[in-house]
Amino acid sequence: MPHSSDKAAQSSATSASSQAANPPDTDTVGNGKVPHPPVGRPVLKAEKLTKRVNSGERTLTILHELSLSVAAGESVAILGKSGAGKSTLLGLLAGLDTPSDGELTLFGQPLSRLDEDGRAALRAGRVGFVFQNFQLLPSLSALENVLLPMELSPRAGEEQAAKSWLAKVGLEERTEHLPKQLSGGEQQRVAIARAFVTDPELVFADEPTGNLDPDTGAQIIELLFTLNREAGTTLILVTHDHALARRCDRCLQLDQGRLLPFMPDTDEGGGQ
Ligand SMILES: Nc1ncnc2c1ncn2[C@@H]1O[C@H](COP(=O)(O)OP(=O)(O)O)[C@@H](O)[C@H]1O
Ligand SMILES: [Mg+2]
Repeated sequence: MPHSSDKAAQSSATSASSQAANPPDTDTVGNGKVPHPPVGRPVLKAEKLTKRVNSGERTLTILHELSLSVAAGESVAILGKSGAGKSTLLGLLAGLDTPSDGELTLFGQPLSRLDEDGRAALRAGRVGFVFQNFQLLPSLSALENVLLPMELSPRAGEEQAAKSWLAKVGLEERTEHLPKQLSGGEQQRVAIARAFVTDPELVFADEPTGNLDPDTGAQIIELLFTLNREAGTTLILVTHDHALARRCDRCLQLDQGRLLPFMPDTDEGGGQ
């Protein structure tokens, strides 16, 4: 579990965040918050990304010269079979993992020129990530978990913001609960609140409705697309849910390490 390294990256990025808070393509406003880029501007550009890992005796190529450009305000669904490399791709696109070859440019900054602290600083407050397995810190309450990204990107009224996000995902009565005292779906909702609490420009979500009952899943989808529309949040989602995929501006399928255009079924709903 990468909790300890995440924690280390978070604390080291706290000091580094001030250096990277002024990327060349954005301006900071009076409250220190970076405004969302205008809709249409590229927030992310992947060029010929390749990811190889060692698997026993042999080398496994998970992603092969994959290219993708995503504009601000876009919503993109990524579909594909289990094991196709979707989670690996999301981790690379968010700058959480590094490619074996190729370049990723996030908010106009080529990530190969940044070390781990620099990448964490670039992401701080601007990128939210909902992991497939939540990755909540087990010793922290729901509220403390949602407050974690604020350590990297402090702002006024953060406890109020965290509580209001927990209320939006229907967990106002669970703020003091530890992850182990919450159901899978409730943990998923804490993870979603944590991803959105800094009002990020770009949100990655790995099967965000995969552990939710249909009603909660539908509420979370509404919330994601309301934010996409109203706040201009760029969404990159991994999903098996064709109903969710249909609501995205663009659907892509990961197959044999590459992304291809994909047309979701019109008559298929859930299925996660
Ligand atoms: N660090 C790693 N070492 C070895 N194999 C890995 C590693 N990371 C992922 N894999 C393998 O790469 C493939 C893609 O994994 P993943 O990205 O989790 O797929 P998906 O999210 O599409 O189900 C799987 O076969 C997985 O076992
Ligand atoms: Mg996965």
